[in-house]
Amino acid sequence: MNKNKILKIAIDSPAAAGAGTIAKAISKHYNLCYLDTGKIYRMIAFFHLKYPKKFNYNFINKKIRSLKLNDLQNKYFLSDEVGIHASKIAKQKKIRDLVHKYQVNIAYNPPKKFKGSCLDGRDITYKIIPDADIKFFITANIKTRALRRYKELKSLKKKISYSEVLKSIKKRDKSDFQRKISPLKKTKDSLLINTSNLTKRACFLKIKKIIDRKINN
Ligand code: C5P
Repeated sequence: MNKNKILKIAIDSPAAAGAGTIAKAISKHYNLCYLDTGKIYRMIAFFHLKYPKKFNYNFINKKIRSLKLNDLQNKYFLSDEVGIHASKIAKQKKIRDLVHKYQVNIAYNPPKKFKGSCLDGRDITYKIIPDADIKFFITANIKTRALRRYKELKSLKKKISYSEVLKSIKKRDKSDFQRKISPLKKTKDSLLINTSNLTKRACFLKIKKIIDRKINN
């Protein structure tokens, strides 16, 4: 790989497959700017739920224009309710177009202190960074994903049962895989990583090996 070029990593994955955890660790290791694109849709969904009267195209446009990466760390974006609403909001072309520009800018022009970018979401490998240096499709079986999300929500003191989490992940899978605009899919040039039986460390090492091979070529 050309040493003067920035490194761009694209990841797509269904809900709670562990992509965020891996992407964060990889970004830290290679000094890449990490963007969890799901958080942007969650933020918009949160605003829709919280300020239904104020919510319109201009309101969202303004929020996106002034959006700082740190703004996405809001713990209220993490709830199951916001996640489900985000997958409804994410079906709207107008909303996706607004978010698109922001994501492309981070992917191709990350702040100077970084050596590249790493984005995860649903349409990153074919819509946002179609020419990414490395593409991954990260998944895990549905029960493993539901259990991981359940534990995460419990650690945030959210009142929710495992079966509710399972149901909501199934609902989101259906919506994300089957929607007409920017559906979740594994592109031919994405490497499939199944995290069902892998520890976080094992996942990290597996992906690191692939990236190192690419960088040193
Ligand atoms: O990644 P996360 O589960 O937080 O995303 C919440 C929702 O946002 C997803 O279920 C999906 O509908 C939507 N999303 C999307 N495109 C992305 C990232 C997330 O449509 N690139």
